[in-house]
Amino acid sequence: MIHDEVLRSEWIVACASTTVQETPVQVLILGERVVLFRTADGVHAFRDICIHRGAALSLGCVQNNRLVCPYHGWEYAPDGSCVKIPQLPAGRPIPTKARAARFHCIEAYGFVWVNLGHGEAPLFSLPEYDDSAFRHVVWGPSRVSAKPPRIIENFLDVGHLSFVHEGFLGVRTHAEIGEYRVAEGEDGVLRSGEIEVYQPDPDGSGQSRYVYYIYEILGPLSVRFIKRDPLTGSRMTILLSIRPDDEQTSTAYGLISFDYETGMTDEQITGFQDMIFAQDKPIVENQRPEELPLDLQQELSLKCDGVSIAYRRYLARRRVTFGTA
Ligand code: FES
Ligand code: FE
Repeated sequence: MIHDEVLRSEWIVACASTTVQETPVQVLILGERVVLFRTADGVHAFRDICIHRGAALSLGCVQNNRLVCPYHGWEYAPDGSCVKIPQLPAGRPIPTKARAARFHCIEAYGFVWVNLGHGEAPLFSLPEYDDSAFRHVVWGPSRVSAKPPRIIENFLDVGHLSFVHEGFLGVRTHAEIGEYRVAEGEDGVLRSGEIEVYQPDPDGSGQSRYVYYIYEILGPLSVRFIKRDPLTGSRMTILLSIRPDDEQTSTAYGLISFDYETGMTDEQITGFQDMIFAQDKPIVENQRPEELPLDLQQELSLKCDGVSIAYRRYLARRRVTFGTA
């Protein structure tokens, strides 16, 4: 188990909503095995262990809105209480200790989110999710052998677009990054100003031009950008959220939203994102130290790394310890 009290009280992306159907699903969150299951009133999360003999509840099934342990058939209600023990003679009470440990769990933006703590902090808001002008595509899971802050910072890093994603998201001969600021908005979200990026083909028309990125830090493990094309006025946003699985592995999820006709199927959109993420993966998996240095003297930052610097300061202020140094 990973002891980071800040991350344990955050909403962490567990999986795509569509992953949790009739069959229970096991996910690893901060080293904790969690079972997700769906009943008539939504998705629920328990610690994935049966108090009777330690079986994984995720190997069981859902029957009559109860999670049934695969080993001896004990039945758990969504509130975690054990409501049936088949081996008990009729009329015998169920021991009060017979319970599953329940975690806070919600569905939002196409994902299931789990909070291992008290679940008091609200989930960040995503205004365009309810805006009918936007189409949304869920991307992930994508496994990465790196700690979450390095992955998040890579997403916030505008300077790499013209190198790592050359020909797709940037052009080497236009690597320069102009001035911009990062400030906290009235909504409490850390947000960059518009950053100019020269892209070879922003809308598939083959015409290279400048587009504008705004980056937002929504939480220690959730960030996004809003990309605006001044020629067409169209907007695209990508939310990236990372699930820390264990000490070595993370799983990335994304929500890609457009307010224009892309001419692409969902599969083509996620396929493109897979290709872009595959370009980042060898970089982040080989960065050292694996932990993101929060002491700004440790690596050599430039002014154009302003979003990364803001993220490092944010993690320091929030006292995130996992994946930081
Ligand atoms: Fe779950 Fe026995 S281990 S019912
Ligand atoms: Fe990248």
